[in-house]
Amino acid sequence: MTEEMKSEIQKLGTQVLFDERMDHYTTIRVGGPADALLYPASLEELEHLVLFSKKQKIPLFVFGAGSNLLIGDQGIRGLVVNLQKFSRLTVEQRTDTEAVIHAEVGVGMPRLVDLTAEQGLHGLEGIAGVPGNVGGGLAMNAGTREGQIGDAVLTVSFMDKEGKLQTWSREDIGFGYRTSHFPKGAILLSARFGLTPSTPELVKEKVKKMREARVETQPLNVPNLGSVFKNPPGQHAGALVEEAGLKGVRVGGARISPKHGNFIVNEGGATAREIKVLIGLMKDKVKEKFNVTLEPEVRFVGEA
Ligand code: EPU
Repeated sequence: MTEEMKSEIQKLGTQVLFDERMDHYTTIRVGGPADALLYPASLEELEHLVLFSKKQKIPLFVFGAGSNLLIGDQGIRGLVVNLQKFSRLTVEQRTDTEAVIHAEVGVGMPRLVDLTAEQGLHGLEGIAGVPGNVGGGLAMNAGTREGQIGDAVLTVSFMDKEGKLQTWSREDIGFGYRTSHFPKGAILLSARFGLTPSTPELVKEKVKKMREARVETQPLNVPNLGSVFKNPPGQHAGALVEEAGLKGVRVGGARISPKHGNFIVNEGGATAREIKVLIGLMKDKVKEKFNVTLEPEVRFVGEA
């Protein structure tokens, strides 16, 4: 990015870091530099960024907590936006039979789940133990076998690529298994969740169980990418990778977790290139052995 462009970006008034290495911002601890990493603090600042990117014809990429994200070793060109300053979380209304929570996208899903547990509100226990923030969670309908974030959504508000605000209902969004259908270029801002009053004891108990189960089966104490592949219908990606004999295989600092076949871990100094080699190997071997095509759940961004 040219110095002139940097100075134009600076004039927009949003907090910015230039040529910032992105490995600090992903749970796998991999990723080259972002040209400009921006932290808008208001809708107005965000709108200016959207319109600037359109006018200057430079790409704009929004990321969340970086927990299911593989950023290339050469990093990301253009504007890289993080909405961690959008972090309000409130119980909007509550009666004996229903409650509504409003969460901005920068709220961590664990914080959202904790609030439902303290308040004794049922409906989001299924995402207990899932890392990431509400924005990333909504974009990919994060979840577990017990439930997905989209199940509890009433509405989601977003900024479209023209900088205009829109609010869509769950039906409009059409959540599926790790998918959503927002318009291209939509920047998610907040969601309203519809929950059912229960008791703090019951919700806390379920949340605790979910979190414990995850720690037992997944390599969460090492930098990791989350589930690499979606589960193919009726099958489990982790089991297929295991049966293909690939658990524990290393390429450089990257390794297919010996604990869970659908996880790649960074044992120190792994590169995106090494991780991509492993992902290719998992895909090819599972195809060869079982004739099953694994589809990545991990999102790839940036230059190799
Ligand atoms: N399995 C193996 N070998 C392995 C891993 C798993 O044989 O190396 C077998 C297990 O024994 C079990 C089955 O595969 O019979 C399923 O494994 P697990 O319970 O670990 O669940 P998963 O299907 O691998 C899914 C989600 C996880 C979520 C868990 C728990 C996907 C792609 N993954 O994993 O979500 O935490 O269920 O509900 O849907 C994520 O999306 O990032 C994620 C971690």
